[in-house]
Amino acid sequence: MDHKNERVRSRALQGKTALVTGGSQGLGRALGGALGRAGARVVLVARHFEPLAAAVAEIRAAGGEAHAVVADVADKDAAASIAGQAAALVGPIDLLVNNASTLGPVPLRLLLDTDCEDLERALAVNLVGAFRLTKAIAGPMVLRGGGTIVNITSDAATEAYERWGAYGASKAALEQLGRVWAAELAGTGVRLFTVDPGEMDTRMHADAIPDADRAELSDPARVAERIVALVAGTDAASGARIAIRVGPAGAEAAAAEAAR
Ligand SMILES: NC(=O)c1ccc[n+]([C@@H]2O[C@H](COP(=O)([O-])OP(=O)(O)OC[C@H]3O[C@@H](n4cnc5c(N)ncnc54)[C@H](OP(=O)(O)O)[C@@H]3O)[C@@H](O)[C@H]2O)c1
Repeated sequence: MDHKNERVRSRALQGKTALVTGGSQGLGRALGGALGRAGARVVLVARHFEPLAAAVAEIRAAGGEAHAVVADVADKDAAASIAGQAAALVGPIDLLVNNASTLGPVPLRLLLDTDCEDLERALAVNLVGAFRLTKAIAGPMVLRGGGTIVNITSDAATEAYERWGAYGASKAALEQLGRVWAAELAGTGVRLFTVDPGEMDTRMHADAIPDADRAELSDPARVAERIVALVAGTDAASGARIAIRVGPAGAEAAAAEAAR
């Protein structure tokens, strides 16, 4: 992306409000930072206060506005509470990123060894949690005639990786709900994107594949910049599934971003 486009796009987020789940580490934390630098007023959600507070402090130290909301997105009552707290902190939400996610127990298990409760938990966090929050946020967006929702998915939604069944099923369902959300929101001004960030150097990746070569993984900060450019721009059609592949550090030239 050239610098002029980058500047125009980043101005698009100046003063906008953004709610990012899973904002205390990994991609969510990087997204909070990138959004804060773009001038957005950011609310981050996660279960554990200390890392969340550290993420908020980092954004504020860089001159941005950020707030913490401690919640488990799988809790039935969490969506209304998160939406209410976010609105009280920064006003109506312009951008919702459903990023919080669980793998379930690690080491990852074959389906024959997967407890039904672990499948239920993956669905509760990765699918139903995102659905509840989208329901709470999309309605006001429709009434205001605009907004953007980003659901973070994975290639485990589309590939039959052994041991990734529960997580992959939750992400596949998230993708399908996203397609239907986008169809139903057409004409309202509210856009929804499904973003596959590729393999990133985060705790989730280390938990899933502890012996991975970290040098081969993407830096979540660079993935976050691409997502911010996506939401700040107007090129992508609502409902698109966008795979971001920044690759290992220094491999930007070889990056391939494919929309399908
Ligand atoms: N890393 C990869 O290679 C990769 C590849 C493909 C897709 N993804 C997707 O990218 C997204 C970010 O992944 P990541 O690697 O950055 O994950 P991560 O490092 O494990 O961070 C997960 C974040 O979600 C929060 N979280 C987890 N469960 C939650 C819950 N029930 N309620 C609220 N917050 C919760 C965590 O904080 P607390 O524990 O304090 O709640 C943390 O802030 C996920 O949707 C993941 O599926 C990752």
